[in-house]
Amino acid sequence: MKRIAVIGAGTMGHGIAQVAALAGFTTTLTDAEPASLPRAVERIKVNLAGGVSRGKLSRDAADAALERLSTSTNLAEAVQKADLIVEAIVEDLGAKQSLFAAVENAAGASAVLATNTSSLSIAAIAQATDHPERVLGMHFFNPVHIMKLVELVTHDGVDAAVVERVRDVAVRMGKEPIIVKNSPGFASSRLGIALGLEAMRMVEEGVATPEDIDKALELGYGHPMGPLRVSDLVGLDVRLSIAEYLHAELGAPHFAPPDILRRLVRDNHLGKKTGRGFYEWPKNVSS
Ligand code: NAI
Repeated sequence: MKRIAVIGAGTMGHGIAQVAALAGFTTTLTDAEPASLPRAVERIKVNLAGGVSRGKLSRDAADAALERLSTSTNLAEAVQKADLIVEAIVEDLGAKQSLFAAVENAAGASAVLATNTSSLSIAAIAQATDHPERVLGMHFFNPVHIMKLVELVTHDGVDAAVVERVRDVAVRMGKEPIIVKNSPGFASSRLGIALGLEAMRMVEEGVATPEDIDKALELGYGHPMGPLRVSDLVGLDVRLSIAEYLHAELGAPHFAPPDILRRLVRDNHLGKKTGRGFYEWPKNVSS
């Protein structure tokens, strides 16, 4: 694996392109919206400059990463020489399926096709291609240049050698890959939501305050941040829709969204972005 193409230059795509270029891969970033490409490159430059000023990165390494990075407004041109193609476009199954069909036509026969979907079925995306054996999930976390985890999501039709090749790429990017079978919520969302919903039920029952429930996990189990504060940061509307999805897919009663979550969302208390959730978030306080 030498060349990586990243499709979608938004929140996730620019970060994936950054870690790919920094890890030594010749990287091409493409997007259906041309204006997003210079914006993404600017964000990457700012991130790299931040790394240099904090002493995490040498200026030479940052400059070399930028030299390995290019952009293209042409999908076929961006993917045709890539060994690994990472898709990070809108979270919509139809959009991802038609993109994967188009990418397969333009990409080389041995290229691996990965999706950064956070919730969609990898098998359903793979089925849109003629060669599902080379399709898998490569789920990065936001912000990509900081978060260590990458979930490699497999499905029944994937070639084990493909998973190994992508695991090697993730390690070269400085990430800690885990391998998860294609199933609703993969590992990270399923666990994170289960914990978050139980914490919310405990608030509802008056077991303890949100602060104390979060402290229980922060100080008792070494979690860097408690599940209620995490929920406020992610957005309670987002948490609710994932909980509804997992409840429908897995049927387990502990994924049923608690009333307190529904009430907060109904009243537009969505967490940090609206100033109130389980916590109050004054406008000038950063996370
Ligand atoms: P975003 O909205 O910031 O960026 C998506 C980009 O894809 C936009 O620049 C858009 O112009 C482009 N795009 C849309 N359709 C396209 C197409 N057909 N061809 C080429 N480019 C297209 O979205 P974000 O947040 O970066 O999410 C991307 C993917 O990553 C989604 O599948 C999302 O579920 C997943 N994800 C998001 C995380 C997050 O915290 N934002 C975390 C982990 C995964």
